[in-house]
Amino acid sequence: VALPPIHIKKTMLPTALPAWQALAEHRRATAHLHLRERFAAEPNRFERMHAELNGLLLDYSKNLIGEDTLDLLCRLADESGAAELRRQMYAGGKINLSEHRAVLHTALRLPENTAPVYVDDINIVPQVHAELNRALDFAERLQNGTHTGCTGLPIRDVVNIGIGGSDLGPRMVAQALAPYQQNLNVHFAANLDSADLDGILRRVAPETTLFIVASKSFRTPETLLNAQAARRWFLQSGRSKADIAQHFAAVSANVEAAAEFGIAPQNVFGMFDWVGGRYSVWSAIGLPVMCAIGREHFREFLRGGHDMDEHFLHAPWRRNIPALLALIGIWQQNFCGSTSHIVIPYSHGLRRLPAHLQQLDMESNGKSRNRHGKPVDFATGAAIWGEAGVNCQHAFFQLIHQGTQVIPVDFIVPLNGEGADDGRHLRLVANAFAQAEALMRGKSEAEARAETADKGLPESEQAALASQRSFPGNRPSNTILVERITPYTLGLILAMYEHKVFMQGAVWGINSFDQWGVEYGKELAQTILPELQGTTPAGHDSSTATLIQRYRQQMGNKQP
Ligand code: F6P
Repeated sequence: VALPPIHIKKTMLPTALPAWQALAEHRRATAHLHLRERFAAEPNRFERMHAELNGLLLDYSKNLIGEDTLDLLCRLADESGAAELRRQMYAGGKINLSEHRAVLHTALRLPENTAPVYVDDINIVPQVHAELNRALDFAERLQNGTHTGCTGLPIRDVVNIGIGGSDLGPRMVAQALAPYQQNLNVHFAANLDSADLDGILRRVAPETTLFIVASKSFRTPETLLNAQAARRWFLQSGRSKADIAQHFAAVSANVEAAAEFGIAPQNVFGMFDWVGGRYSVWSAIGLPVMCAIGREHFREFLRGGHDMDEHFLHAPWRRNIPALLALIGIWQQNFCGSTSHIVIPYSHGLRRLPAHLQQLDMESNGKSRNRHGKPVDFATGAAIWGEAGVNCQHAFFQLIHQGTQVIPVDFIVPLNGEGADDGRHLRLVANAFAQAEALMRGKSEAEARAETADKGLPESEQAALASQRSFPGNRPSNTILVERITPYTLGLILAMYEHKVFMQGAVWGINSFDQWGVEYGKELAQTILPELQGTTPAGHDSSTATLIQRYRQQMGNKQP
């Protein structure tokens, strides 16, 4: 189906939009307002500044915003043409301009009997479900022991070998949904450092292990080198090449390369070029997750993603959870001067969520040209980082509370924990809420002084202590509550962040779906590799040349 061209003028940067200018002025006029005062003046602030979807609650009231800020941000969204780009994305428009590709991770989550979605005149929905069902069937055969290892023993361990989007998403989801794990153990190897894969191989047995080589391109050297190492290990254990069919599977858009590697065609699961690696956990790249949690739970995960897709597509900006996160992030970054953003799940299972979001957000929105190649004159993607709560409170929270930078935080809090109900989860939740409140309120010097008033300290010491013990407050955060981490709520959370990233990219006018920036380092590694092995280094700066020299002096003839 021919889609009309995207209407945004190629030369237009969002900084030229009237709403952007108005927001800059609005920041100047409101910078003095403190969140503590805002809460005091607006008793129903939470009521007006939260949004909910099917058990997921976003409380965005602890941000440096008022109703007027939100109105202007929604105007910015309208003026930027984000709604049209969103429509194009869902409809299969080739909005990834530099790679001439559609962007259809939303199609991976569509129910089977749904309206068609066309890419190059082909309805892709049946393909999506065919491939999904093949992968789910395979996972089920592994789970119920129909697909055995070459000696007839059931498979017990599944080792996913992949990197980036072929690792971070499935690893995080499998870890988060560990309470739903059935009878297969899943492991993930990504790093080229042999310690990663070797550590796993020491714990598994060849005759009961299945390797999934996960690579959209099937060209990523890290993954191929690790896959070759796994194959060597398998063959060296006395198994034959014919046995590989029982012990190796692949997920790739490059089915021919997977076949060349020697993987049996029935064990190769397809991906689509219209799904970016960092958005691919919903596809057959989710195979290790399917192996861990099974068909029904994986479908629940997809249902959560789809419900968030529908919400993002239809809800007005002012009630639209991903859009609100995106617009408030833009406010924080482009108008209040933050440069990074922290994500803190108060859930041990979600401890890899920040790592997944780093790729999702920073690979998508770490761009300095707009989607038509024009340099931007404003800050794009924030540096994303984080760690599980409460661990982070004993690590970097000092800087968040009293440092000189203002770094917005997302607190993600499941109200129920998964472990023993012995009061620890209750305290985990108390900590999350307390951190958000402390960041917002701060503590004045007078309050800090009152705390030490009866300690009998000399006046000068009391004053000095009060100044150290005071907190500026006025530090923004979102709190995202779910009842518990389930396949469904995780689907909601993940799709929520995907659409946040889309929305920010749309307002900024950048292409969130290519990643040329990671290519250059890969190219130079290809040049340096033979130089480490002996060819004469040429054309390097003195630093790189000396580092190569040092390696060669150290390794002599020891290189592999
Ligand atoms: O890091 C660059 C990148 O291309 C990511 O975008 C991707 O997720 C990762 O490499 C792995 O790629 P592949 O799945 O093709 O091996």
